Amino acid sequence: MNIAIDRDRFLSEIDTLASFSDAEAPAVTRIVFTPTDLKARAWMKARCADAGLTVREDAVGNTFARWSGSEADAPVVGTGSHIDAIPNAGKYDGVVGVLGGLEALRSLRQSGFRPRHSIELLVFTSEEPTRFGIGCLGSRLLSGTLSPDSGKKLMDNEGSTLDEVRHRAGFPGDLEQVKLPNGYYKAFVELHIEQGPRLEREQIPLGVVTKIAAPASLRVAIEGSGGHAGAVLMPDRRDALCAAAELILAIEDAARGSGAIDTVATVGICEVFPGAVNSIPARVRLSVDIRDTDLQRRDGLVRALDAKSSIISANRNVSIQTELVNADAPADCDPAIIEALSQACRQQRINFLPMVSRAYHDSLFVSRIAPVAMLFIPCRHGYSHRPDEYADPGDIARGTLVLAETLAALSS
Ligand code: GLV
Ligand code: MN
Ligand code: MN
Repeated sequence: MNIAIDRDRFLSEIDTLASFSDAEAPAVTRIVFTPTDLKARAWMKARCADAGLTVREDAVGNTFARWSGSEADAPVVGTGSHIDAIPNAGKYDGVVGVLGGLEALRSLRQSGFRPRHSIELLVFTSEEPTRFGIGCLGSRLLSGTLSPDSGKKLMDNEGSTLDEVRHRAGFPGDLEQVKLPNGYYKAFVELHIEQGPRLEREQIPLGVVTKIAAPASLRVAIEGSGGHAGAVLMPDRRDALCAAAELILAIEDAARGSGAIDTVATVGICEVFPGAVNSIPARVRLSVDIRDTDLQRRDGLVRALDAKSSIISANRNVSIQTELVNADAPADCDPAIIEALSQACRQQRINFLPMVSRAYHDSLFVSRIAPVAMLFIPCRHGYSHRPDEYADPGDIARGTLVLAETLAALSS
């Protein structure tokens, strides 16, 4: 089989998709169900239809583009990723897996290959947590990790529920129908940029993912007492931001001191009320992201945050409420798919590194209902979630070729 990746077409599609953005280039901002996201989705569906794929969408906007196999009832081989992008992101995160999946399917069709198992390209809704505060919304619902009832109640910053937002976006179906049956997928493979520096440092063109680390996130609400920045003397203060500062550094300390390099913790959102230079902060909201490859250690850090909150709350006479948004288990990738990816790399004489994914991905949730694995390509300096995210065209093409070979093997 001679698979020819059309690198120029694929690269120009990456650029076109990046032009659907609410930030000025090179930054990309594409938040789920905004007019920009809906335009990008329409463009993406048209590309899938052009490629001869049959497109369907579920009630949360997960998009499935299918190439039917000769055995209509056989379990499906899936690939795909997401096209939503956090504020001020780059153009490769998620996109490489979606457009790479599409290019893999197109190149396989052109090579004359005919699958036995249907192959499906999936574009997941809202892998990024920006709008509803929880990542991997589409894959959580599709795998049954998030119940339709809990999903319906999720709220965005404007106070609109997921149900209201998806209806307005043109997805009125029944959320109960989103979950796929166990056994629907024979295998699922996601191509993605590494989002870390390892492949580049070790000068290895591809990574085969063996495990996906366990993410957790929390919201913290701190309530102190506001007042005049000139008139309230220091002994009388109950400054919510000072309490938050102490807590943020305690979280950093706990992650650094966990005893393992695999523990990471980030406070990425800090909202201060009322937010005036001459007003003592009365309330603060934090969003905390904690991850580890080891579930017990990750949970230990979550407990440490709670314990530290109680101490700070007592010392500073402020109230601190923590709400656990998600605490997910890690996933092991499937040995047979890892072997299929490794075999495809060997066949193409491409060196690869077995590695852990420290970022989360939709594959983490698909793994609850299907065997999964992932293929990583390097990104410059390991940069991701920033506008200067960059992946080399040669690496993108190599990853896509290995993906195509692997999909062919799995669907035969
Ligand atoms: C995905 O975007 C992540 O934060 O790992
Ligand atoms: Mn991301
Ligand atoms: Mn991603």
